[in-house]
Amino acid sequence: MLNVALPKGRLGDAVYRRFAALGYPCAAMAEDNRKLVFVSDDGRMRFLLVKPSDVAIYVEHGAADVGVVGKDILLEGDYDVYELLDLGVGRCRLCVAGRRGYAEDRDRVLKVATKYVQVAGRYYASIDREIELIRLNGSIELAPILRLSDVIVDIVESGKTLEENDLVVLSDIVPVSARLIANRSSYLFKEEAIDLLCAGLREVCAK
Ligand code: PRP
Repeated sequence: MLNVALPKGRLGDAVYRRFAALGYPCAAMAEDNRKLVFVSDDGRMRFLLVKPSDVAIYVEHGAADVGVVGKDILLEGDYDVYELLDLGVGRCRLCVAGRRGYAEDRDRVLKVATKYVQVAGRYYASIDREIELIRLNGSIELAPILRLSDVIVDIVESGKTLEENDLVVLSDIVPVSARLIANRSSYLFKEEAIDLLCAGLREVCAK
């Protein structure tokens, strides 16, 4: 049996549908309940529903053999795991955004609010721009509106959140999508099962 960490929420639902299409459906997962552990109907997969930002931690420590996680989380965390496949789902991008009409004063230190402090730090270092990082945990878009920061570094998917808060993308940093990752020792001991899953997902996700 493979232990699979899936991110709870929108991305997890989309990824679970791929597992079901691949032949690992799980009737109990379709029910409205609060369970966090589900075994596929054929008994070959155990799905663990975890907070999206915790998937890579479960996999790195071997509590899950494989997992599905956004590239944004991998870029931010530097986890010791194998990245096996780009599933091509959950496509979005990490961007710098700010108020419509905002003009940057290059003589001042730029205030950047984000939960992606590593990504933001590396990006501004790469363009040699001095910044002050303000770490937030959510609703990042509020920061420039309330002048807590000059700009934000955050995920943009449809662009709706920015638009409805009168913010605009100022620069693109990196595209993001869901990745299949594996624990290093699991990959050694369960290589055949993991390779089979990876090949199947590659096919299902390409459709
Ligand atoms: C993410 C991100 C943006 C929003 C972008 O937030 O932080 O707020 O999605 O999506 P859009 O471009 O389709 O509007 P999330 O829903 O993950 O919640 P958060 O505020 O906790 O980060």
